[in-house]
Amino acid sequence: MIAAIATTPFEGQKPGTSGLRKKTPVFQQPRYLENFVQAIMDCLEGFEGATLVVGGDGRYFNREAIQIVLKIALANGFGRILVGQGGVLSTPAASNLIRKNRAFGGIVLSASHNPGGPDGDFGIKYNVGNGGPAPEKLTDAIYERTKTIAHYKILEAPDVDVDTLGTVRLGGGEIEVIDPVSDYAELMRGLFDFERIAALFRSGFRLRFDAMSAVTGPYAIRIFEELLGAGAGTVMNGTPLPDFGGHHPDPNLVHCKHLLDLAMTPDGPDLCAASDGDGDRNLIIGRGQFATPSDSLAILAANARLAPGYAGGIAGIARSMPTSRAADRVAQGLGVKLYETPTGWKFFGNLLDAGLATICGEESAGTGSNHVREKDGLWAVLLWLNILAARGESVKAVVVSHWARYGRNYYSRHDYEEVASDGANALVKALREGLPAFKGKRFGGLAIASADDFSYHDPVDGSDSTHQGVRLHFEDGARIVYRLSGTGTEGATLRVYIERFEPDPAGQNLETQEALAELIALSREIAQIERYTGRAAPSVIT
Ligand code: G6P
Ligand code: ZN
Repeated sequence: MIAAIATTPFEGQKPGTSGLRKKTPVFQQPRYLENFVQAIMDCLEGFEGATLVVGGDGRYFNREAIQIVLKIALANGFGRILVGQGGVLSTPAASNLIRKNRAFGGIVLSASHNPGGPDGDFGIKYNVGNGGPAPEKLTDAIYERTKTIAHYKILEAPDVDVDTLGTVRLGGGEIEVIDPVSDYAELMRGLFDFERIAALFRSGFRLRFDAMSAVTGPYAIRIFEELLGAGAGTVMNGTPLPDFGGHHPDPNLVHCKHLLDLAMTPDGPDLCAASDGDGDRNLIIGRGQFATPSDSLAILAANARLAPGYAGGIAGIARSMPTSRAADRVAQGLGVKLYETPTGWKFFGNLLDAGLATICGEESAGTGSNHVREKDGLWAVLLWLNILAARGESVKAVVVSHWARYGRNYYSRHDYEEVASDGANALVKALREGLPAFKGKRFGGLAIASADDFSYHDPVDGSDSTHQGVRLHFEDGARIVYRLSGTGTEGATLRVYIERFEPDPAGQNLETQEALAELIALSREIAQIERYTGRAAPSVIT
């Protein structure tokens, strides 16, 4: 029985950088999720009888939310829904399933790397038929729809058993509960030289992968321990928990300090790695050597040919604007084009679909390729493993020789988290207004060569995205970028991205914060960060 339930709009259902994210209790309000899912349905056309992929990262409220999504999607006319067993799919696995099954789209329930649980965050996003996040045009339309919504359609039926594999018929459609891992593992096997990686493990190479009690546990155990023979115990925190064991499932040096410490011990594992809540981010630390996400992107692009899936070379590299320009030098070296996009994986979709770029990445620990339309944490670890196996070198050797060849982009991001929105907005406004006066301005030995507010013209669909971050370019090639995060759920987060290029190997061994000290001080002074935010120092440095 399909019921049309009367509802009234909720304020603020505006998708951010990556879908709608709010505190879990906000999503638990009656009709809140229902409204948003119906708004998605109302903005889609021609999906009658089509396939939808549904899954989430298993966080608290995932199970309840899955039921709502299934019943609303069927009531609105989807014919077939593929749902991961237990309601679980990693984000890249969901993207793969959409593509592989030529589904109309997918709904992913996740707040990515944000903490979960009753006091944590929850989120939902819609992915289109290419497997990637909905473009801004669609998310804007969904938001507009949430403002006027008056009804939602839902199947009145008992909850669907999402724990038993197989197909159930429901309300004129069918729901297929599938193994979340097998299609994804098959995809990885097609891209990488599993034989060679397995041989690397047989030779004694040691990997430690932290699944952070989040979605990648079952994927990592199947791929690393079972298929590649990395050995039991390679994967830590491999059981997904609704609250991620109370941890913050963000694979950065703060939340994975234990991995950093492990990797820095002389007899530590050869490679320490981690992924986030929904499996799309990655952290790579070799013994004695952290690879920053920006460096990792550049190194993976430079060496991609060593993996069978990319043996024919890459068509181009895309990076988000705040990501360091290490990848630009690789693109130049390979003679391929470099695309600079706004923050958010959705901007890579068109470039990948059009065959303009093959490898993409962001400073926010996301790397991926044209194999799906999301960033992919395990893919990054596997490509690193493939490269290490093929080169027979350590992470440290690979990183150091990369710098020697292309130069090193010292890079750091300083986050001022959960500051008052008014102050953060005023800071950005002041920077924008100050732009014309910045050019040529001198601060000690540093002079600003150019300054702008980044805007992007999509070469494929012709759309424009403006106000994507204030950039200050210095005469010596250094850069400071300011932007407000689009993924926070409380107040505002100011992100300051600081970068300096060092071509000389003799100068490439400094500690990053030290190497950037002058620019860091300047980043605070120029934007008057303390005056606007009340913070003298950032809350997180990555
Ligand atoms: C998510 C998105 C990324 C983005 C990151 C940081 O992970 O998928 O594309 O780079 O958030 O976004 P923010 O707006 O918080 O800087
Ligand atoms: Zn994520």
